[in-house]
Amino acid sequence: MNGVKEAEAEEYHSKDFEWATLKQEIEDDPSLRYHLLPFHFPQQETTTATTATRQPESIRAWQRFHIQHSSGKFFKERRYLLKEFPELVSCGEFCRVLEVGCGNGSTALPILRGNKTIILYACDCSNETLERAKEFVAASNIVSLEHRFHPFYCDFATFGFPKWLSCGSCREKFAQNRQTSFSDVKEHGGTHVNDLCSMEESTCCLGGVDFVTLIFTLSAVPLERMPGAIKECFSVLKPGGMLLFRDYGLYDMTMLRFEPDQRVGFREYMRSDGTYSYFFCLDTVRSLFVGAGFIEVEVEYCCVKSVNRRNGKSMRRVWVHGKFQKPI
Ligand SMILES: C[S@@+](CC[C@H](N)C(=O)[O-])C[C@H]1O[C@@H](n2cnc3c(N)ncnc32)[C@H](O)[C@@H]1O
Repeated sequence: MNGVKEAEAEEYHSKDFEWATLKQEIEDDPSLRYHLLPFHFPQQETTTATTATRQPESIRAWQRFHIQHSSGKFFKERRYLLKEFPELVSCGEFCRVLEVGCGNGSTALPILRGNKTIILYACDCSNETLERAKEFVAASNIVSLEHRFHPFYCDFATFGFPKWLSCGSCREKFAQNRQTSFSDVKEHGGTHVNDLCSMEESTCCLGGVDFVTLIFTLSAVPLERMPGAIKECFSVLKPGGMLLFRDYGLYDMTMLRFEPDQRVGFREYMRSDGTYSYFFCLDTVRSLFVGAGFIEVEVEYCCVKSVNRRNGKSMRRVWVHGKFQKPI
């Protein structure tokens, strides 16, 4: 896709401009220099406020946000999603997806619409928005929904996912079998999928999911919590399962609008309502996901020019698109 588009189409996967050109422009602009400076936490703040209480504060900010925007109109249905992640349509029957930080269902709805047998678990740290998601999904005339949509409350970055998704002993079994299979690879020069553990549904838990979607949710998690939050996602995926990722990219127009006093970390900002936003470069995304045990399948910038309908201004949007697989 080339050229300037209407704001509605703005989120399609696209290369309207080169990210390297935008980077150069930003880095050469003295008025934007503060975005590039290292960020120094006051020592005391790092150990007390940041680690112990910052995350619940950001959760409370999201809860307030959803109460204030309780009409639920704030998030639009992500119609482009299945073009970006066609595996959500082509996966076998009754495949299981966990949408993390589902909000009012902007991602959940197109997934349920696009695949008539998919089973969707969707969590958020706000009960208010989960209610809106239930209403939107119920109003959408999607077939046999009652068995396919399972919203639940969860702050995955602080407390992890509930054990009914994948219990401790199943997680451990997978980790142990993985170690064994790695030593098999070393000793016998090959691995046999049939010998490997797969988390199957049993009486103890669901046995994990086939896909995790993290769509504009990780950027809302304070940076120091991200590695643990991604490990949680890893642990509830079945071996061979995929994590589908999309989030704000470095030098996105919304990053450049933050004032110096809104910086709360390097590439990390706090909006006036108290919610956090982090802007990812490809290396950070890679090291976070590979560091949690994932195999990189795809990671790239989507660079899209769009026009603000109200003021006619052109905007350069940057998102990171990624797919990561849990090893078999
Ligand atoms: C920008 S919205 C994205 C919503 C949805 N994924 C989408 O595609 O539009 C981020 C969502 O993540 C939720 N969230 C933030 N931190 C969370 C956490 N630690 N655990 C669960 N949900 C969280 C927020 O309440 C919010 O609904």
